[in-house]
Amino acid sequence: MITQKLNTDKSGIETACQILKNGGVVGIPTETVYGLAANAFNPKAIEKIFGAKGRPQDNPLIVHIAEIETVYEIAKDIPKTALICAEKFWPGPLTIVLNKTNKIPDCVSAGLSTVAIRMPSNQTAREVISKSGLPLAAPSANISGSPSPTTAEHVVNDLDGKIDAVLMGENCNVGVESTVISLAGEKPVLLRPGGITLEQLREILPDITVNKAVLSELESGETAASPGMKYKHYAPKTETFLVEGENFADFVNQKSNAVAVCFAEEESDISIPKIIYGEKAHPETLAQNIFSVLREVDNSNTKYAYIHAPEKDGIGLAVYNRLIRAAAFKVIKL
Ligand code: TXA
Ligand code: MG
Repeated sequence: MITQKLNTDKSGIETACQILKNGGVVGIPTETVYGLAANAFNPKAIEKIFGAKGRPQDNPLIVHIAEIETVYEIAKDIPKTALICAEKFWPGPLTIVLNKTNKIPDCVSAGLSTVAIRMPSNQTAREVISKSGLPLAAPSANISGSPSPTTAEHVVNDLDGKIDAVLMGENCNVGVESTVISLAGEKPVLLRPGGITLEQLREILPDITVNKAVLSELESGETAASPGMKYKHYAPKTETFLVEGENFADFVNQKSNAVAVCFAEEESDISIPKIIYGEKAHPETLAQNIFSVLREVDNSNTKYAYIHAPEKDGIGLAVYNRLIRAAAFKVIKL
């Protein structure tokens, strides 16, 4: 298959919409990470997403919408808190899990009775959803298990020849995926931290709890509330460790055959090969760069990578959540 590289101008967006209406799959920019989109109502199109990514069939997809009305078509038993969250955080990086209607095929929800819904703020994404007239199921547009794509080039590197087209848009400005919350049960639950922080959510949902899988590995046999959280994920091929604590420079300077992934503030103290992933003082920069940096780690041709862990608050919680998975839960506490 030849993958079309489309501009994000009017004609590129029209071509993308035509492909989607015909049951094809298209890489699209969003404010979080690039998505691999298909018509959420077309099971054959959805199958192509799972095929291209090599995604496990039991991992459900997020449905992307452009109008609040679509929520009523695809979800039911919608609590008032969902509408308040939508009002406050949409369009933007928040995904809300609700009970689904029969309009959502089982392959989208991976057999669950719920559906995850998000309204992206990225202009190109919004136009593709509106102009195609379709809710779009879209996971991140990477090969399953590898770091999520935050540039059009990342999508091409992973999926060229496997998907119909990519809209070659701008780099993603949030850099980590959306926050996923469930409002389908009795109490609100944070399933995946992301672009909207836990602190922001607590203002509206004071009783929100954090699912165990956010910060630790599930025991074997334990059921994942969010199936995506049970997999090793975002991982470089290099053996990666997450390092918590202040004396990172002293620690990594004793390592050989290793690359350090560090904050800009400590760069000059580190004497082994290093990659800066942002400023500790501005954790949103860590989020913006983390997935590109995880891809770069393999270019340094070292046996080991040691990544300095961010603080676990604000957007740092989302970065930490991705990094423990990238490190396959190998955390070193200094
Ligand atoms: O920012 C994002 O959310 C990006 C962009 C493209 O929108 N999408 C994304 O999709 O990250 P994906 O498929 O890589 O991650 C979706 C996560 C998975 O962990 C999945 O298990 C969870 O959402 N999820 C989807 N539907 C769910 C459901 N009904 N119940 C619980 N978790 C669900
Ligand atoms: Mg993903």
